[in-house]
Amino acid sequence: MIGTEDGMKEQEYERRLTERKEQIEAFLQSYLPQTAYPQKTLLEAMRYSVENGGKRLRPILMLESYLLFDGAEDKLPTLVAPFCAAIEMIHSYSLVHDDLPAMDNDQYRRGKLTTHAAFGEAMGILAGDGLLNFAFETALLAAGEPEDDARVLRALGVLARKAGAFGMIGGQTVDVELTGKALTAEQLEFIYRLKTGALLEASLMVGAILAGADSAQVEAVEQIAADVGMAFQIRDDILDEVGNEELLGKPVHSDEKNQKTTYAVLFGLEAARQEVRRLSERAKETLRGLGGESAFLEWLFDWLVSREY
Ligand code: IPE
Ligand code: IPE
Ligand code: MG
Ligand code: MG
Ligand code: MG
Repeated sequence: MIGTEDGMKEQEYERRLTERKEQIEAFLQSYLPQTAYPQKTLLEAMRYSVENGGKRLRPILMLESYLLFDGAEDKLPTLVAPFCAAIEMIHSYSLVHDDLPAMDNDQYRRGKLTTHAAFGEAMGILAGDGLLNFAFETALLAAGEPEDDARVLRALGVLARKAGAFGMIGGQTVDVELTGKALTAEQLEFIYRLKTGALLEASLMVGAILAGADSAQVEAVEQIAADVGMAFQIRDDILDEVGNEELLGKPVHSDEKNQKTTYAVLFGLEAARQEVRRLSERAKETLRGLGGESAFLEWLFDWLVSREY
């Protein structure tokens, strides 16, 4: 039974999560492109891909990482908001392309038709491309304050690498290539670390860098996010098998349809659940070792690996 004090903490954290999500929605609204231009269809497809339904975990993690390292609150709107919007644009584009017929071929995402299902395949490809570029344009809006520019530059480097061939795109590549094949545990770990881990790593690292964390601290949050990312993707696999489609807002059994060897397929559901617990406990331990005010982030890690959607 949850004691009164724990119950109050739980309520407080849930409230904070809701507030953070609203804050991120506001950031996104301030940066997403207007659509009254000749390339209106593209711009509408870009907005459609980002708006409604996403949990906004990556920008929330970025913001919390910035605060963990005592980032100045008055710089949130100018320094951190552009990066928060950028990481969510990159994440959303990765989902648009992940759902394409050539990849996972899925028709529903965040409770709506996928972008290619609503706008056609060509527009799905272009909306993804558009979001990726627009993300970097947006992140660059953080530049221009001489005392922060070195941090902005470093953060841009991390964002570019973790989203790219040595990050998310690299992971998606091996995922696609090995679809339908038996995987070793090492191959699976490589795929998860990159396709899902990399953007979570970027989220915590960029937040830390913008706050002025040193290299050892940035490396520590990279490791923490790698564990969280792995746990998060294994949870995603579990939900693909036993989740509720309506809650999830995306189809279940997509992995089975595509003959994906997931962690749950390779080791079974129970082992998958245990691994999620092991990784999230290790992430929390490393986080506590950093010594900041980490209670909410710890709660958030638990929340995102036990999520039902
Ligand atoms: C889905 O990510 C893709 C994975 C990496 C498992 P999320 O579960 O964060 O998706 P949204 O943004 O909330 O829709
Ligand atoms: C993660 O893998 C997707 C990306 C890195 C874009 P999945 O293919 O399992 O994600 P979902 O289940 O479609 O959200
Ligand atoms: Mg996929
Ligand atoms: Mg998919
Ligand atoms: Mg999945």
